[in-house]
Amino acid sequence: MRVAFVGKGGSGKTTVSALFARYVASRGLPVVAIDADINQHLGMVLGMEDQALPRPMGSHLTEIKEWLRGDNPRISSAAAMVKTTPPGWGSRLLDLPPAAVTGLPTTDPIHEEFAVAAPYGPWLMATGPFGESDLGVACYHSKVGAVELYLNHLVDGPGQYVVVDMTAGADSFASGLFTRFDLTFLVAEPTRQGVGVYRQYREYAADYGVAVAVVGNKVQSPQDVAFLREHVGSDLLVCLGHSGVVRGMEQGRPFGLEDLEPEVSSGLGTLLEAVDGREKDWERFGRQTVEFHLRNARAWANRATGEDLAAQIDPDFVFGPQITAAGSPA
Ligand SMILES: Nc1ncnc2c1ncn2[C@@H]1O[C@H](COP(=O)(O)OP(=O)(O)O)[C@@H](O)[C@H]1O
Ligand SMILES: [Mg+2]
Repeated sequence: MRVAFVGKGGSGKTTVSALFARYVASRGLPVVAIDADINQHLGMVLGMEDQALPRPMGSHLTEIKEWLRGDNPRISSAAAMVKTTPPGWGSRLLDLPPAAVTGLPTTDPIHEEFAVAAPYGPWLMATGPFGESDLGVACYHSKVGAVELYLNHLVDGPGQYVVVDMTAGADSFASGLFTRFDLTFLVAEPTRQGVGVYRQYREYAADYGVAVAVVGNKVQSPQDVAFLREHVGSDLLVCLGHSGVVRGMEQGRPFGLEDLEPEVSSGLGTLLEAVDGREKDWERFGRQTVEFHLRNARAWANRATGEDLAAQIDPDFVFGPQITAAGSPA
């Protein structure tokens, strides 16, 4: 199950992504946390030293494309593969690696090369830092494109988790990245700006059947809760208060999940229940993959590659658990 954390800068996306990934891992479940935010902080918040951070996927797009395209005859080269290029017969698909705590090896070169086991159990992957020029429609070399390629080739199911710490911005709307998730958590502080991002996201999401739940963060009073309720209504899933334990970590004191304020841990439990309550909709997933690829092809990718990229769509390929990671029917 894929989960995105989006919201305004400073709202707490990275903090809550990291807490949630640790919470899932603490239950012995496999979870890959992906840092796809402009400010790459997820590794740090997960307790990693700089030198232990994973290789940035965004700087190795060609290598990733080369592996994923396998011997799919519809993709002539890695250069003709753009971030929205869907898998087809012959493409290589990805399985989530086993929980890092099992000590079992990752199952494919992508996780082997780009995922590292973070302290406390989650796997960590990262796009690497990106600049303003990485954002926007005509973004052939987009770093977040690495995440989109990854998610488009991933065959995941219940009890397996991918947590993406991302921005709520132009690139994910333009490319369709925001439609790749089973549930999107919009982290919002109880402020006008916080709920402003919600309104914008909501509009995009509603048009594409994207499920959004609001996580109120740094909520300090009943008035804060009332403010969020007033502006996001029943989309408000849970409110997290200001955590002294999180602040302590920022002051250099690492913590165990058992140290968290009970209200924060129970909030994390609510997030997991919400994710587990979602049904995978592979039909929507497949349909939107094609839709956004065609849109990108017309908007810029045909021009950028000099090919008609509509021809990359394999009409016989059906997304879903019946496809094994080997790219053939189970
Ligand atoms: N629930 C919380 N309790 C205490 N501090 C928090 C909480 N959520 C976020 N913070 C702090 O707020 C700041 C911004 O959070 P961060 O997760 O980096 O936001 P974002 O990733 O959305 O930019 C950080 O200093 C973080 O430690
Ligand atoms: Mg962040």
